[in-house]
Amino acid sequence: MNPGLKASRRALNIEGESSFIVLGNAKMLETQGKRIIHLEIGEPDFITPANIREAAIRALKDGETHYTPTPGMLELRKAIAEKTAQDFGIDVSFENVSVTLGSKEAIFAALASIVEEGDEVLYPNPGYPAYESGVRFFGGKPVPVRLREENEFRMTPEEVNRLVSDKTKAIVINSPENPTGAVLSKDDVKGVVEIARDRGAYVISDEVYRYIIYDGLKHYSPLQFDENLENTIVVDGFSKYYAMTGWRLGYVITPERLTEPLQLVLNLVTACPPSFIQIGGLEALRNGSNAVREMVEQYAIRREIVIEEVSKMRRVHMVRPKGAFYGFINVKEIIDRAKVNSLKLASILLEKYGVAVLHGSAMGSFGEGYIRISYANSVENIRNGLRIMSRAFDEIAGF
Ligand SMILES: Cc1ncc(COP(=O)(O)O)c(C=O)c1O
Repeated sequence: MNPGLKASRRALNIEGESSFIVLGNAKMLETQGKRIIHLEIGEPDFITPANIREAAIRALKDGETHYTPTPGMLELRKAIAEKTAQDFGIDVSFENVSVTLGSKEAIFAALASIVEEGDEVLYPNPGYPAYESGVRFFGGKPVPVRLREENEFRMTPEEVNRLVSDKTKAIVINSPENPTGAVLSKDDVKGVVEIARDRGAYVISDEVYRYIIYDGLKHYSPLQFDENLENTIVVDGFSKYYAMTGWRLGYVITPERLTEPLQLVLNLVTACPPSFIQIGGLEALRNGSNAVREMVEQYAIRREIVIEEVSKMRRVHMVRPKGAFYGFINVKEIIDRAKVNSLKLASILLEKYGVAVLHGSAMGSFGEGYIRISYANSVENIRNGLRIMSRAFDEIAGF
């Protein structure tokens, strides 16, 4: 082949999201007639609430089929700004809000707007893989902040402080966290904001699970400690708490100096989010809170089942998740005994036992030794899946 026809290194080096690969493998087994319990993918099993779906259908019927401004419809941007202001007791202007195709595009656009070659970006590890891949894609250096089980996987200011340098451009935080369910305290968030401010760096706060939180805990945003919106970038979206994953709707809140560059990126990539989808989002913001509450109540019940079932398993354990809908199970004893890694363990669970889970190393190098299960699933599937896993662990490790 003519070497000039090779795909770019930049594209080839992207590390894709493994949960989609595991899902593909599981679906393949299903087409061969195998029954699979899906605990791998991070998405609500609920269908989007009816009023939200109907608003989008109505919009389509009414002919909402055109481009909108790049940062989204004014009404939606205003509704996002108002809700953010209300939730956090702060002032936010719609001018700082840009609507995106999922929070994934928000992460991409935020990194595209700030990362120069060689810039360092701290990110939680184990954590959502798009941070590390995104930073690398733009020529930056991803610097993992190891989340430790003994700190309940919180990203502490002490750990962040040890790793910041003159090259730090941004610190990514994610609370509640995927995959550990960790929730940062007020002091954690404030501490990170202060470190970033001292260093002249940004805090990118991924808040996609912010309403999915348990035990009466509160979610804190760096927005609450950055009065003039100087160095905070908030990434959020409709996927998780409104059960709208397939709609691809998210947003990003940025300091004023970043709005134009960020919107140039969005304009280049997608021009604007789909119009009727934005109208669905508006309905979610205006009349979606009860549905969120009801879904979170269900997640809370399922979480208890996960805690109960995992506590019955032998030689594995799990930090009690405080938010999101994942259990991050420490399987180090099993993989040591069986002389495998988490990837191999997950593939045995899938192929031999019919339970799809995500290997911990899919969430970064420090995720090795764990597997992630999603409990955004029916009580029956969760119980059955975990009981099969329990038996599988005993067999695999030969206990
Ligand atoms: C922490 C985190 N951020 C962002 C996303 C992306 O979500 P979406 O693009 O659907 O809004 C996910 C999805 O799994 C996630 O777990």
